[in-house]
Amino acid sequence: LDNGLGKTPPMGWNSWNRYTCDINETVILNNAEAMKELGLLKLGYNYVIMDDCWSKRQRDPKTGRIVPDPEKFPNGIENMIEKIHNMGFNFGMYSSAGKYTCAGYPGSLGHEEIDAKMFAEWKIDYLKYDNCFNQGRSGSPLISYQRYEAMSDALNKTGHPIFYALCQWGEDQVWNWASTIANSWRVTGDIYDNFNRYDIRCPCETYDCPSLQGYHCSIMNIVNKATPLVQKAGPNSGWGDMDMLEVGNGGMSFDEYITHFTMWAILKSPMILGNDVSSMSREHLAIVSNPDVIAVNQDVGSAPANRMWKKHFVDGFVHLFSGSLSNGDWVVAVVNEATEPLLEMNIAFSDIFTDNHDNEKYTWVAKDLWTKETTTAARYLTANVVPHGTQVWRLQKSMHLSHNKNYWVS
Ligand code: GLA
Repeated sequence: LDNGLGKTPPMGWNSWNRYTCDINETVILNNAEAMKELGLLKLGYNYVIMDDCWSKRQRDPKTGRIVPDPEKFPNGIENMIEKIHNMGFNFGMYSSAGKYTCAGYPGSLGHEEIDAKMFAEWKIDYLKYDNCFNQGRSGSPLISYQRYEAMSDALNKTGHPIFYALCQWGEDQVWNWASTIANSWRVTGDIYDNFNRYDIRCPCETYDCPSLQGYHCSIMNIVNKATPLVQKAGPNSGWGDMDMLEVGNGGMSFDEYITHFTMWAILKSPMILGNDVSSMSREHLAIVSNPDVIAVNQDVGSAPANRMWKKHFVDGFVHLFSGSLSNGDWVVAVVNEATEPLLEMNIAFSDIFTDNHDNEKYTWVAKDLWTKETTTAARYLTANVVPHGTQVWRLQKSMHLSHNKNYWVS
């Protein structure tokens, strides 16, 4: 969607993963304040998004408008939004392309114009638009497209720029039709704070899941399903949304969160924190604050990385991802899904540089984006990856091998 927004994947915070329906003014403002204090706003996390459960159960019978819950927002929603704006953030809200939201509050299906007008009056900057209670209006790309297009048009009509985030769980091949009406589109069912449990209820590995409402996808479920789908993403086509981050919510180890954060970054997913920022540990803060990893996600003009191969290793898989960046650098990641360390695995340049074999004839300066160590590599990189961890490098072109006899292999 070319509405001037989303030139890079959005970054920010959303209330759902940590608080679900247990939200109020204090929760939202405290997290925004903490984001600012901890330097996260400066790093680019500039959307504060309030998810489901913010309204009363019924629309106002007179005006037909959705009514914010006065107990949760005693000073009014607009007052809170103003505070968020004054802190320097954009503000995001939530509704559903259904009769009700997923938690049973009023949805916007059939009320697109009146709701969009209200959101614009409130000066919101982002709308997450869910898929529950859609009255059977799904099951084909065209039917879903029309349901989501109605809100896209209504938002556009307001004249107020609003980032439009589709939350359609990857149903009806959303990646094939959302690019003209949305700034991002969810490609899977809901994330849960788990590395690679293959939940029997989660058909995340297939592309045409039946209704994914209430289904829960582990990090590796999402990576496996999303990788081919997010390739359709780009600055004017919207970003493939792999769901909000779980870093800091406690269900995964440090190394698993490294894998989670790295993969979301290099696949150019939106990077929306989903934890209690005000109480997060230093080590979790360090993960989401890594400027080198964020820079890959926010690199203007480059495509998501892609998977080069996936190989059996002990009790899991090793995955190789690579992608080019806009200044000619490359990003390369090796994920170790197994419970044993991966030691001294050589990754051939011919597996990394698929589009340009001339690149293989150079030496590259490889910076490990987590340890910050720099090495010079020729013909291959050597990976050492802890169980469930990810090693990721940024590669900068150095010297042609013909200039250095020691490296030259004809
Ligand atoms: C759906 C969405 C979630 C969240 C909940 C709210 O499950 O996929 O991200 O917004 O609804 O009820």
